Amino acid sequence: MDKKQKRVFMELFSGLPRQGPGSAAATARAFSMCRLPEGKTHIVDVGCGTGAAALELARLAPEADITAIDTHAPFLDELEARFLEHGFSERLITAAEPMEDLPFEDEAMDVLWCEGAIYNMGVKNALESWNRFIKPGGYLAFSEVCWLTPDPPAVAAEFWAAEYPGISRPDAVMALIHDAGYELAGHFALPASAWTDDYYIPLQRNVARLREQYANDGAALEIIDMTQREIDIFYKYSGSYGYVFFVARKP
Ligand SMILES: C[S@@+](CC[C@H](N)C(=O)[O-])C[C@H]1O[C@@H](n2cnc3c(N)ncnc32)[C@H](O)[C@@H]1O
Repeated sequence: MDKKQKRVFMELFSGLPRQGPGSAAATARAFSMCRLPEGKTHIVDVGCGTGAAALELARLAPEADITAIDTHAPFLDELEARFLEHGFSERLITAAEPMEDLPFEDEAMDVLWCEGAIYNMGVKNALESWNRFIKPGGYLAFSEVCWLTPDPPAVAAEFWAAEYPGISRPDAVMALIHDAGYELAGHFALPASAWTDDYYIPLQRNVARLREQYANDGAALEIIDMTQREIDIFYKYSGSYGYVFFVARKP
């Protein structure tokens, strides 16, 4: 992807309620699996995007400080505006830092949250590297795309082999959780609506708008077509794959 294509890519994903599959209901369900101590707690949302999950966590845990981390600074600006609008700014810290090098002391966090972003680092790597930042008895909650059927259709298998060869089955992710020294507090598959309502439906609108805007620009159209293909594959083959939320507890 050249510089201009990257810009088109960011344009496609701008103005969306979220930058990946998820929903407020899924965030709340995963959070209900975390047993937190009374009083002040520290929660970090890693790869937070524009803050759909961080905002929900601020609502669900009114006494918690929320740290929001993402490498893309404009997303953090948008997140800060959303927190301001909801009156949660005083509990927010943002940092434009890479998830591979989180700026925390050991055992600083009660909960490390990561929706639709752990793939950037790989589940095994993240489970191992982030363990030290979590307090004993604290949690790492993350969502990850998984195969939901043993024999996915060839078109879906080819697409994911190219896009994210790390995609695996929920039981393989649970084995990684166990091997990295966590206990599984719970897991569940997100419904198809978590892909569409706040993600693919508004993304499809951006695709249509930018297709007109870049009608004569081959390089931009390449990126737009790529995004359209991802959406089309989802609508055709989503029974075979989906996002799964995992909540892991550090003993
Ligand atoms: C698919 S989006 C998910 C965003 C958000 N969690 C959500 O569910 O809407 C992935 C996010 O990870 C961020 N990201 C990518 N690589 C990163 C890295 N190395 N460190 C921190 N954030 C990263 C991207 O900027 C993007 O906001």
